[in-house]
Amino acid sequence: MAINGETKIESINGETKHGSINGTESNNEPKAVSRHQEVGHKSLLQSDALYQYILETSVYPREPEPMKELREVTAKHPWNIMTTSADEGQFINMLLKLVNAKNTMEIGVFTGYSLLATALALPDDGKILAMDINRENYEVGLPIIEKAGVAHKIDFKEGPALPILDQMVADEKHHGTFDFIFVDADKDNYINYHKRLIDLVKIGGLIGYDNTLWNGSVVAPPDAPLRKYVRYYRDFVLELNKALADDPRIEICMLPVGDGITLCRRVS
Ligand SMILES: C[S@@+](CC[C@H](N)C(=O)[O-])C[C@H]1O[C@@H](n2cnc3c(N)ncnc32)[C@H](O)[C@@H]1O
Repeated sequence: MAINGETKIESINGETKHGSINGTESNNEPKAVSRHQEVGHKSLLQSDALYQYILETSVYPREPEPMKELREVTAKHPWNIMTTSADEGQFINMLLKLVNAKNTMEIGVFTGYSLLATALALPDDGKILAMDINRENYEVGLPIIEKAGVAHKIDFKEGPALPILDQMVADEKHHGTFDFIFVDADKDNYINYHKRLIDLVKIGGLIGYDNTLWNGSVVAPPDAPLRKYVRYYRDFVLELNKALADDPRIEICMLPVGDGITLCRRVS
């Protein structure tokens, strides 16, 4: 998920600075300019210009046409803030090719940008178990996914992911079967997902937890004027980050791509 909201940008001595953890400003501060709205996503980089550079130099010129189309359709959706950013989509696509992923899972589909990035990376007989409580949004992207010729790889299940995971965990045949799992849904359940996914991912396979830097709020002081939803989920993200760091069954790598993605490689 990408979260943007307002970002305070001030020009100091010709340098652009931006604050990313609150949505408020005091009266004597320069007027907020929502530059992230222009690029569509919250960046954790030192400047918006740098993020824009990445998009324009490396991401957009190489973005597959169906992903571009889906990104543009999603930009018109009232909840477009939720979509995976284009740079993260590119990262996921490359990662899946590097690890030769074939059997994958996604929790949190929305209109399907990360799903399409995944589907395009998998071999023709690759599979994605995709779960979301909202099918309507998935159907926004589905015609584009179909046109791209990759819909046959997707098994979409509408509903909360947790009960589906419970059913799978109860049946040993699913244990250790997934090469890659991308989690981008309800942050307050990430720990619950992890408890189940660790059995379902292969030893040597990967789980990617999205938004683990949570709009930069993971380092916000306790009294920082955070947006309500940012504050609400922050403690869950902090708890997850600690739990992942303490979990001996995985190796981890937290990357500042998009809103932060933590890759977990199961080792036992
Ligand atoms: C941040 S969006 C996913 C963005 C998506 N990965 C993309 O590339 O656009 C989060 C999604 O999680 C879904 N969601 C929320 N709670 C869920 C749950 N309990 N189980 C499955 N999906 C859920 C929401 O409906 C929403 O579509």
